[in-house]
Amino acid sequence: MSRTQKVLEQDGLRYMPNFPLFPERASTLAGHVDALYFFLVALTLVFSVAIALGIAILAIRYRKERQPKPIQVEGSLALELTWTIIPLGITMVIFIWAAAIYFYETRPPKGAMEVYAVGKQWMWKFEHVEGQREINTLHVPLGRDVRMIMTSQDVIHSFFVPAFRTKADVLPGRYTSVWFRATKTGRYHLFCAEYCGTQHSGMIGEVVVMDPADYQQWAQSGTDGSLASFGEKAFQQYGCAMCHRADTQGRGPNLVGLYGKQVLLDDGRTLSADETYIRESIMNPGAKIASGFKNIMPTFEGQISEEEMVALVAYVKALGNGMANPPAPVANPDNGVYPVTPNKEPSMAAPNQQKSAPIQPKPSGK
Ligand code: CUA
Repeated sequence: MSRTQKVLEQDGLRYMPNFPLFPERASTLAGHVDALYFFLVALTLVFSVAIALGIAILAIRYRKERQPKPIQVEGSLALELTWTIIPLGITMVIFIWAAAIYFYETRPPKGAMEVYAVGKQWMWKFEHVEGQREINTLHVPLGRDVRMIMTSQDVIHSFFVPAFRTKADVLPGRYTSVWFRATKTGRYHLFCAEYCGTQHSGMIGEVVVMDPADYQQWAQSGTDGSLASFGEKAFQQYGCAMCHRADTQGRGPNLVGLYGKQVLLDDGRTLSADETYIRESIMNPGAKIASGFKNIMPTFEGQISEEEMVALVAYVKALGNGMANPPAPVANPDNGVYPVTPNKEPSMAAPNQQKSAPIQPKPSGK
């Protein structure tokens, strides 16, 4: 009986040794990561034992009193090929295996539910699409794909759930994303895994995995509107709707159906309208100008908090799937390239740019 055990039992407490070699496995990713890790441990053991044995055997065989004369070896093609090809093979196995896990971890399946996270010194804020907000606790349903869309309000943080083997940096000024599917209900540690200031170690919380039915109930109880509806309020409040009208007559691009589309820029590039693009277009509107529009939008840097930004992004995304009210009467232009309607003064370069666009736009007004 250890001393700790004795002390605890004097106080009527039971001694529970709790030093697991691995954290619990509670996501679909955990098994894959552990398998690779076991392989690396096994590989390390094999080589450690082989080298230690080699040292011992050679030390005995060539010990001083025997003084054998060594034979000089002047290069050996077979030997050199062996010690090149075998390690190359082993490292390629590790590389391909790890890359496959990385791709699995970073590509969320279609239809994953989305949860927004904002890291700040020193807490985690989570916002659910249904409108629930929470701090340092994240509720997720069992068996569903959850995609985290994360940003930071100040410095670099890192979202780490050991039981899920999920870890991703959370950066200021952009969105990073990671996904997981929980396989066990329960409560799991949530850590910040990037030193982010004096209370970094206190930037902890928990992930609560619930049965899907319980989660539904939890997500819908006591909210005063969806995240997109918060975003809609902000959209009105900051006057976005004045220019970004849904009838394509505004001074800014129509945002209905924007999310996920290819956007043609005025320098001829196209890009996919993702969360980071939407965010950048609000904070730094001049960075990427949609083709056919002028660089007239003021920046909202320093005026919009990251939480409002998340709500605005959720609103713009919801505009595409009919989950939110459009900012004005809609004549939904379902164009592949967004936007394609030149405003008051059509850009001279526009026709050429449109030829090189991946998807040909329909004529305006249809
Ligand atoms: Cu946030 Cu460490």
